[in-house]
Amino acid sequence: MTQRRIFITTALPYANGAFHIGHIMEYIQADIWVRFQRMQGNEVHFVGADDAHGAPIMIAAEKAGKTPQAFVADIAAGRKQYLDGFHIKFDNWHSTDSPENTELSQDIYKRLRAAGLTYSKPVEQFYDPVKGMFLADRYIKGECPKCGAKDQYGDACEVCSSVYSPTELKNPYSTLSGAKPELRTSDHFFFKLSDPECVAFLKEWLDAPGRLQPQVANKAREWLEGKGDRELGDWDISRDAPYFGIPIPDAPGKYFYVWLDAPIGYLASFKNYCDKTGIDFENFLSDPKTEQIHFIGKDIIYFHTLFWPAMLKFAGAPYKVPSHVYVHGFIQLGGEKMSKSRGTGLSPLRYLELGMNPEWLRYYIAAKLNGAVEDIEFNPDDFMARVNSDLIGKYVNIASRCAGFIEKRFKGRVQDPALWQNDATLANIRNEAPEIQGLYEQRDFAKALRKVMELADRVNKLVDSDKPWELAKQADKETTLHSVCTRALEAFRILTIYLKPVLPQVATNIEGLLGLPELTWADVDTPLSDKNAIGSYRHLMTRVDEKQLDALFELPKESKAVTASTPHPASPAKAEATPNPADKQTITIDDFAKVDLRIARIANAEHVEGADKLLKLTLDVGALGTRQVFAGIKSAYDPATLIGKHTVVVANLAPRKMKFGMSEGMVLAASGDAPGLFLLSPDIGAQPGMKVK
Ligand code: MSP
Ligand code: ZN
Repeated sequence: MTQRRIFITTALPYANGAFHIGHIMEYIQADIWVRFQRMQGNEVHFVGADDAHGAPIMIAAEKAGKTPQAFVADIAAGRKQYLDGFHIKFDNWHSTDSPENTELSQDIYKRLRAAGLTYSKPVEQFYDPVKGMFLADRYIKGECPKCGAKDQYGDACEVCSSVYSPTELKNPYSTLSGAKPELRTSDHFFFKLSDPECVAFLKEWLDAPGRLQPQVANKAREWLEGKGDRELGDWDISRDAPYFGIPIPDAPGKYFYVWLDAPIGYLASFKNYCDKTGIDFENFLSDPKTEQIHFIGKDIIYFHTLFWPAMLKFAGAPYKVPSHVYVHGFIQLGGEKMSKSRGTGLSPLRYLELGMNPEWLRYYIAAKLNGAVEDIEFNPDDFMARVNSDLIGKYVNIASRCAGFIEKRFKGRVQDPALWQNDATLANIRNEAPEIQGLYEQRDFAKALRKVMELADRVNKLVDSDKPWELAKQADKETTLHSVCTRALEAFRILTIYLKPVLPQVATNIEGLLGLPELTWADVDTPLSDKNAIGSYRHLMTRVDEKQLDALFELPKESKAVTASTPHPASPAKAEATPNPADKQTITIDDFAKVDLRIARIANAEHVEGADKLLKLTLDVGALGTRQVFAGIKSAYDPATLIGKHTVVVANLAPRKMKFGMSEGMVLAASGDAPGLFLLSPDIGAQPGMKVK
């Protein structure tokens, strides 16, 4: 087999907050794959970086009274403890606010410009006269043009869920200064994604077999063909000063939009690493053998499967288009413990501070990842059950029952391999190597680990029936004891190879115990030797204790995890300027009576082609007839489970034309800061059409 040469990245986290569990999950997924590839003898370079630029970070820095550079440097300083803590081994960690990224971004831009793929045109946009800056939509609020609700964002109303553009808001204000924004015109630069050559290239790139997961390619194709929930036009790649970003060549006062320079940051980190290690950056990239692979989450597919490959393609060599973009779903918190605790989430730093084993989390996450774009759930009870039963009860158990006898009764030597090399059980375990290898390669860690645990089960059954602890009491069973323990230990060694990408530290400890050099995949076929000294058995891993989970999820009082530079360790911090909570207004009973709330029976519920968040509901509202309502509850409900349920609908909401059709009302659901959405339902007995008051 020829050695592969792979350059791998994970998405670059915004440098406006500490890592949260979503980041850690992504790094664990990529790190396992990287370690697996290295065990195959492949050449792998794994890099990351902070995504430093953009308005939110600039504003957060200002609030913190720091320069943007100092602000992101503080965030960067906090990264190592997480990465080391969870045994995530990047070869390099850099920043998009770096000389390498400036050089590469300007170079790529100039090449695109030379290829005739950029142009500029005037754009009208809101401007904050007090702050002296143009405002992204998220910094504008005002009254909903449809229902008049106050303090609504510039794109959609949270009260009546109408969608509109910020210029339609009534009494708009800047959330940064409170000032009334003015419409002003400024020249913006665009990348001509609509160019026929560009569209043709993307089509071909998306169609390449095996490049992308099928659902990712489909989604991107929809966007490309203008059928999806986003318009694909030319891409606005510039922002006006003041902006924390990279200056656009020959355009004073203009900066690259953060999403232009962010993915180039992959290359900047790699270049920084090449310069440190003596690899020739350009040669490496332009070598056709080199694979360039990005691990990302499902929310940033758009940028990675359209803009990014197009930029690289038309910039030309040495830049190369990504070989693969591997997309994962989101990690959510769930389970009984979560709802009881009302905790703010799983803080990775708190996890480490409590002394919980990082490889428990690696194992648990791996056991849930199957290589598809599916969300996974962290469920504390399931976490404890999984780790304790698989890792402790099945895997470590093999060594803990057998290794001690080898050390104490046989001077640390296994039996002569000639006597057991061809053992059928061991052969079976070894023969699973190619299948497990294939599963790791496809990132179906869940299935790979299930296989390994099945093998561990088999070995345990043998140990159960051989009962070494009883053999040890019988003087004439010395050889049998030696044989049983040797075979079990050899099985344990092979399983350790299979688990090593997931449990690197445990594997290192076992290499020490067995007196072996670093195990690689090929060592599956190199049995234990009786020349090796087996060390004395120490505990390889403890069980998860329920108390640790209670501590992990208890409401943070004055959590040590909270430091000046890590404002919200547990929540995906988005540096957003939110004004003071709206002043508490009261309403009269007459105001309330204006809202016609009715019991509705969900007669039908279905997915809406092309809609990310919506389900289409057909409601039976008794005497009021049937209503069609689009509800933003897709993330929380499988439509099939809704049919027949009773809920509450606002029946006198003005009908509103949505992209997918008319919506004639609104169903009520509860939500909070934590993930989760809960449809209201009446007590048993309520009939469709009944008034709620
Ligand atoms: N800065 C951009 C990426 C630029 S890449 C050139 C960004 N940053 S992020 O910090 O918001 O997200 C970084 C990665 O974490 C993304 O891949 C995102 O999908 C992933 N996750 C964020 N929350 C997540 C979960 N809850 N679960 C799993 N991954 C999630 O986007
Ligand atoms: Zn509204």
